[in-house]
Amino acid sequence: MKIAVPNESQGGERRVALVPDVIKRLSGKGHEVVVESGAGEGARIPDALFEEAGAKIGSLEGADVVVRVTPPSADDVERLPNGSVLIGFLAPLTAPETTRALASAGVTAFAMEAIPRISRAQSMDALSSQASVGGYRATLIAAQELGRFFPMLTTAAGTIPPAKVLVLGAGVAGLQAIATAKRLGAQVTAFDVRSGVKEQVQSLGAKFLELDIGADAEAEGGYARELTPEEQKAQQEALNEALTEFDVVITTALIPGRPAPKLVTEAGVHNMKPGSVIVDLAGEAGGNCELTKPGETIVEDDVVIVSPLNLPSTMPEHASQLYSRNIMSLLDLITGEEGELNLNFDDEVVAGACVTREGEIVHEGAKKAAGAATETQQGAS
Ligand SMILES: NC(=O)c1ccc[n+]([C@@H]2O[C@H](COP(=O)([O-])OP(=O)(O)OC[C@H]3O[C@@H](n4cnc5c(N)ncnc54)[C@H](O)[C@@H]3O)[C@@H](O)[C@H]2O)c1
Repeated sequence: MKIAVPNESQGGERRVALVPDVIKRLSGKGHEVVVESGAGEGARIPDALFEEAGAKIGSLEGADVVVRVTPPSADDVERLPNGSVLIGFLAPLTAPETTRALASAGVTAFAMEAIPRISRAQSMDALSSQASVGGYRATLIAAQELGRFFPMLTTAAGTIPPAKVLVLGAGVAGLQAIATAKRLGAQVTAFDVRSGVKEQVQSLGAKFLELDIGADAEAEGGYARELTPEEQKAQQEALNEALTEFDVVITTALIPGRPAPKLVTEAGVHNMKPGSVIVDLAGEAGGNCELTKPGETIVEDDVVIVSPLNLPSTMPEHASQLYSRNIMSLLDLITGEEGELNLNFDDEVVAGACVTREGEIVHEGAKKAAGAATETQQGAS
């Protein structure tokens, strides 16, 4: 099988889809790997290291499978070889124009974010591997912005109490943010609308914040459902009060394919102590704080609100390494005994991750998103 790694076209993306270590393993299995010149530059991997690992530096021409990190631009789609398979983050629920372009180009596309989150597919779970990087990094940003220590310090000049950190949303990113804040010595509290998470929060040595907002909000596939307007209001009001005691708030709450829930209101920010820090990891989906400006750092009423975008790309070496291993696991699944491409659509992982095939959009969520976008366009014209 010929596997190709293109340059990432999205401005500022520093990750690369395959790292030399993984290329060595793929070459060992008899695959041919081609990397576009400079593809590893952002992750500080020069072409020579790819070559040492067994890859050729060249073009995508003739590739059976193209692996990338971010969704392709229209130009990237045009450059895909005829009949090829594409694997990468494809934003099937939020980028309908990309999905449509892939379908029209006849590409068989697999979205890493659509891989079913079942035990068998854990090694391919790129949402989790990249969310861990984001959660870790978010805590470091908070520590950097805070004009106070995270750990308790006992010094000759007196004792400093530990910082109080609140993590809202305890999925993969939130749990990593909690673990990182604990390692830095902070006193950590967390909240999630899925009450099943309480045990995981406590197992990391953090306290679970009890907010009375009504029913548990665990929905299909272990994800959270969107709160009703009444539940959302109750959550915001309860949080507004709780926020007064925290130095740092890290927010990671998301609902797949929906705008990020607003947890921290303007009034909540005004309740926080001067010098406190909010790191909003949900900026790409609009933010969990009403005042968040995605991609910016602002100061409101002496509270710093940071909304970093694409944090995994700021740690490109390990983010690429983990992503690369996720990709390799998926490649193993679609490789036959002779090393040939073997797509078994009876396999729930292969079928679940497939977004476009034979000129059609085959992923239910992507179909809905593409349909909704068409209706909006027709309505506007
Ligand atoms: N392979 C696997 O089996 C596997 C791997 C990773 C995650 N999962 C599961 O997938 C699910 C989602 O995890 P994720 O990290 O992708 O989540 P996510 O990134 O979609 O959302 C982050 C967190 O925000 C929470 N949230 C949503 N609305 C909220 C609100 N109003 N207030 C507070 N919190 C709110 C969610 O419950 C979730 O924990 C979890 O059940 C997780 O255990 C399974």
